[in-house]
Amino acid sequence: MFRSVKSFLILLLMGSLGAKSTAQENLPIYLNEAKPIEQRIEDALSRMTLEEKVAMVHAQSKFSSPGVPRLGIPENWMTDGPHGIRAEVFWDKWDQAGWTNDSCIAFPALTCLAASWNKDMSALYGKVIGEEARYRNKNVLLGPGVNIYRTPLNGRNFEYMGEDPFLASRMVVPYIQGVQANGVAACVKHFALNNQEIDRHKVNVTVDDRTLYEIYLPAFKAAVQEGKAWAIMGAYNRYKGQWACQNQFLLNDILRGEWKFDGVVVSDWGGVNDTKQAIYHGLDMEFGSWTDGLTMGASNAYDNYYLANPFLKLLRSGEVKEEELNKKVRNILRLVFRTNMNTKRPYGSFGTAEHASAGRKIAEEGIVLLKNNNNTLPINFSKAKKIAVIGENAIKVMTVGGGSSSLKAKYEISPLDGIKNRIGKEAEVVFARGYVGEKSKAQDGLSTGQNLADNRSADQLIKEAVDLAKTADFVVFVGGLNKNDGQDSEGNDRKSLGLPYSQDKLISALAKANKNLAVVMISGNAVAMPWVNEVPSIVQGWYLGTEAGNALASVLVGDVNPSGKLPFTFPAKLDDNGAHKLGVYPGNGEQTYNEGIFVGYRWADKHGTKPLFSFGHGLSYTSFEYGKVIANKKDLAEDGKITFSVEVKNTGKREGQEIVQLYINDVKSSVPRPVKELKAFEKVSLKAGETKTVKFTIDKTALSFFDAAKHDWVAEPGDFRALVGASSADIRQSIGFRLK
Ligand code: BGC
Repeated sequence: MFRSVKSFLILLLMGSLGAKSTAQENLPIYLNEAKPIEQRIEDALSRMTLEEKVAMVHAQSKFSSPGVPRLGIPENWMTDGPHGIRAEVFWDKWDQAGWTNDSCIAFPALTCLAASWNKDMSALYGKVIGEEARYRNKNVLLGPGVNIYRTPLNGRNFEYMGEDPFLASRMVVPYIQGVQANGVAACVKHFALNNQEIDRHKVNVTVDDRTLYEIYLPAFKAAVQEGKAWAIMGAYNRYKGQWACQNQFLLNDILRGEWKFDGVVVSDWGGVNDTKQAIYHGLDMEFGSWTDGLTMGASNAYDNYYLANPFLKLLRSGEVKEEELNKKVRNILRLVFRTNMNTKRPYGSFGTAEHASAGRKIAEEGIVLLKNNNNTLPINFSKAKKIAVIGENAIKVMTVGGGSSSLKAKYEISPLDGIKNRIGKEAEVVFARGYVGEKSKAQDGLSTGQNLADNRSADQLIKEAVDLAKTADFVVFVGGLNKNDGQDSEGNDRKSLGLPYSQDKLISALAKANKNLAVVMISGNAVAMPWVNEVPSIVQGWYLGTEAGNALASVLVGDVNPSGKLPFTFPAKLDDNGAHKLGVYPGNGEQTYNEGIFVGYRWADKHGTKPLFSFGHGLSYTSFEYGKVIANKKDLAEDGKITFSVEVKNTGKREGQEIVQLYINDVKSSVPRPVKELKAFEKVSLKAGETKTVKFTIDKTALSFFDAAKHDWVAEPGDFRALVGASSADIRQSIGFRLK
């Protein structure tokens, strides 16, 4: 009996499999997922008319492009990116459409993710934001961004992963993989050299090849070759005189030629400026142009896009060969097959508690404790019975604003509410504004709903805050920048390194009023801190999204031991940054990167300037001791590997995580090289008293520089040093070795 039931089941299974495979065999090749993707692409292409193909290479609305309904090929729907899924907008307007079911989980800004130095956090970020995008039926997420932090004034630094190409490369790969596991393409942006917002639509960047390959390209290359990104977004700016979205050098020579990118190149919104170059220079999809061929600001101008009727005309006249169009359509079909037409992709989920807690976890791993004299933090609220929270950023909604990354969040916990949630029962929490930044904030028709109007003078506000601070046992100041134009916001840069709204004066006054003070900076950028020696503790809090306040509170009271480290240098003054020292920034439509490879800590090292806070710096509530670094051999063979080991011990009283960093120093070189460059890192968790051995294995790629004349990476035989430390300015151990 058992045998017969079993055989019956097997027969049934075979029958259903057989039926399935016959059904699949009867499908046209392009719909048959069992066939190789390239074959499906050619099949689909062969069925399409010229007009259907041209329709696919440009937008039909603000964020979508047509499919081929006749063939059952769906539309492409894109969404910003990179910190959450943007609210739905009208078909042809930037304004939000007023849907009631599009409130997302806002995740921490990418600077915070980079500050976690934790690849698992990056994978988690990709997974959850990918699930949100998938649920909202988007097949392209416009992010992550990996433009290098060249100047602290860049208004969009908060959307990127810091100043170091190695750190950004390691952190971008898992994000992409996590997103794409959902059948959603990550669209890595903005390729390339989009390092300032001032003049972003016209600035022409001149940079030598070595700097381009060593500093500005590696994260994109890792995204393409290791992350296997399915999409990339061209930048607004120009390089070698050509706009980046239609750039022979960047798109054809490097991206497709050298890196063998097989995904789709999407223009930045309005980044296309010329039909012929858009046709021949590697772009696949045109989005966001404002053109009727003559003017700016036309609505429903889609037929007049550079890659719409003007392209069709050239094709019909035979001036441009259909193969040029086919190249683009192949890439778009590949995108569609990988995403929308993958019947096995998961369904996603949106606005869930699980996503919110993932965001909180990432936030907690990215918050950086910059300074903590006399163990001022964590707040001991069994002693601190009255806590004064001061500062506008303690109450301000931060997910709205900043440009295209602005979000309609399901909810956002402010720092004040986070602190109250956590200790409101045990301690009295009082608040004073301290300064007034802006009264209200709206972006794309979406307002924070906050009216922060306050007509008092700066002095009145400071007085109120100081009087309150004097009555408290502990003061938490929450300030920094915000998402206003001219601060951490797209479209413009900051005017200075300094804090706005008289905050410097306020912080100094608070420091005098109460010695138990924690300064929490909410920003995506370095700021000047003329009061740095007056305050005992400083926390870098970033933009943390939905769970912002809860994450901050957990660090402030010590539920979470801070473990983030800075992904960029805080220069003591603007002049300590190469682009500023050399006076080239912001240029006037022309920008020459005269500082070359000496970006961030590479500049500080070269000139011996002491940053306010160094790249890789971050403290913990416990302490770590580094043992001697040892190597498994003395000489590294050309094609070999070498492993460095170091024991790290938690010498404090509580569990914590340390980010152990390996930098390489080329002792003697035929070309100028940075004093050291980050080549490996590991975040390790250690219980009180515990010791772990951290191992770093490198090969000669970690020793190489880009030789522009050879157009290749070169590692010169000779002496090198491996430097192991807790930050770029805190090298604890080193050891010499040779490349044979
Ligand atoms: C930004 C992109 C963004 C696009 C769509 C552009 O202005 O530069 O990063 O993805 O708009 O919103």
